[in-house]
Amino acid sequence: MEGLGLQKIMKVAPSKSLVIRINLVFLAFFLIIYASLLLSPSSSAYFENAASLVRFNGETVPVHFDRVSEQFKWEDLFPEWIDEEEESDVPSCPELPMPEFKDYDGIDLIASSSPYSCKFGSEKGRRDWKRRTKVVMWSKCRPMMELFRCDDLVRQEGDWWLFEAEVARLEQKVSLPVGSCKLSLPLWSQGINEVNDLSKFQSPTRAAKREAYVTVLHSSESYVCGAIALGQSLLQTGTKRDLVLLIDKSISQPKRDALVAAGWKIRLITRIRNPRAQKYTYNEYNYSKFRLWQLTDYDKIIFIDSDILVLRNLDLLFHFPQMSATGNDIWIFNSGIMIIEPSNCTFKFLMDRRKDIISYNGGDQGFLNEVFVWWHRLPRRMNFLKNFWANTTAEASVKNELFGADPPKLYAIHYLGLKPWHCYRDYDCNWNIGDQRVYASDVAHERWWKFHDSMDEKLHSFCRLTKRRKLELDYERKLARNISFSDEHWKIKITDPRRSHAV
Ligand SMILES: *[C@@H]1O[C@H](CO)[C@@H](O)[C@H](O)[C@H]1NC(C)=O
Ligand SMILES: *[C@@H]1O[C@H](CO)[C@@H](O)[C@H](O)[C@H]1NC(C)=O
Ligand SMILES: *[C@@H]1O[C@H](CO)[C@@H](O)[C@H](O)[C@H]1NC(C)=O
Ligand SMILES: *[C@@H]1O[C@H](CO)[C@@H](O)[C@H](O)[C@H]1NC(C)=O
Repeated sequence: MEGLGLQKIMKVAPSKSLVIRINLVFLAFFLIIYASLLLSPSSSAYFENAASLVRFNGETVPVHFDRVSEQFKWEDLFPEWIDEEEESDVPSCPELPMPEFKDYDGIDLIASSSPYSCKFGSEKGRRDWKRRTKVVMWSKCRPMMELFRCDDLVRQEGDWWLFEAEVARLEQKVSLPVGSCKLSLPLWSQGINEVNDLSKFQSPTRAAKREAYVTVLHSSESYVCGAIALGQSLLQTGTKRDLVLLIDKSISQPKRDALVAAGWKIRLITRIRNPRAQKYTYNEYNYSKFRLWQLTDYDKIIFIDSDILVLRNLDLLFHFPQMSATGNDIWIFNSGIMIIEPSNCTFKFLMDRRKDIISYNGGDQGFLNEVFVWWHRLPRRMNFLKNFWANTTAEASVKNELFGADPPKLYAIHYLGLKPWHCYRDYDCNWNIGDQRVYASDVAHERWWKFHDSMDEKLHSFCRLTKRRKLELDYERKLARNISFSDEHWKIKITDPRRSHAV
């Protein structure tokens, strides 16, 4: 790993145009909450309007906040790349001005205004930290979902928002790094294989019974094989959590039986259309992932895309709050692995905004990044994207070393591009297509197939090629030969028995 300029190499998926806007107001929200946790409850001139929401009487004390520097930008909190491996640097977050909390001991209420379009105040009702606390905000924008959960909203009147939040939950969230400028889970304390002491990340209430790994299959059966391998790979990590699979009616009974055999508990859902998607396009029903929030018999779930293979136990991620994920590009997270707190209220929130929120890529990832802007960064080793954006031999050698490492160094590989089970096993078919070649890795491909072979043989038949896919593969190979790609994968003799046993 040493000296290969990881700074350039470890970046992620190629950029797409972005709709997400810089919003420093969120930063101010954060400061307010930070203060309201550390201080205790009083009043202010702002709160005449709020009188219908909460009762006040008492004296007003101004709390002094220094403004953040004019030079401060959103990217400072959500940088595209950080030195996760601590190769040449220890990632750090910008210093934020905080009030002198000790000067305000005994205050009941904090009010603040921001220089931007939103104004707000917050109030803390009681001094009982173990219980719930009241927070009042005056804001045109909905206060951040990550800190002020949908279910915690008690009342809203105009720009006034009254929340009743669990103090312990808020404390955990504000104790995480501000933004994604640092890992919320430092992977190692000393030496690359020593996992950090996790006790400091424990959240207060947690029952394993109410936690699950979840994936979603809808619209076609083309990811069934991927979900089978994912389920089996999760079981192999020794997790005791439930494996829950959401499917729609497009998955036939024999496939459902195989998925159950692979370890999944199946739940039938109705898929959700993206009202902005073109009809019959590949992402028309990608909002089906919103159904994850309806799994309210679980407190927390780890969502995993079915094109991911898990190599190491991920249970420690259950300690993290919604929204925790790995970086994708710019300041957005990758939706392939997400920590989610199911809630009917949040589900309704997402559904109600399907038409209004514009997703930069037409998919759920773009949508969710608009809603959950204050995400916490998980190490990319937990959702390692299989792509080679830098197109250098150094990048290829670093990443392939990671893909191949045994015992595994990565927690999970995310198979971007054409999926291993849609290729012949002899090589990664991403090599055959010009714009897919950035996803080609024979090492990662081989790793997936090695895992496939370790599964019960009865499951193998669900990874067969369709006749149509076989024709496509042979055609793409011909094109690659015609173009004469210099890697010469098109020359490899196909020995995969699936070639003659297409279904
Ligand atoms: C969420 O809604 C479903 C019905 O859509 C209901 O069965 C379930 O109990 C609700 N969950 C909670 C926690 O209220
Ligand atoms: C939409 O879903 C399909 C299949 O589930 C997936 O292949 C595709 O990458 C998704 N598209 C986006 C933009 O997320
Ligand atoms: C990667 O580099 C090779 C030459 O080293 C070049 O031919 C190819 O077009 C590049 N691919 C991309 C996607 O930039
Ligand atoms: C192969 O390339 C030649 C030109 O180089 C072109 O005329 C021919 O149509 C191509 N064949 C296929 C199958 O695309």
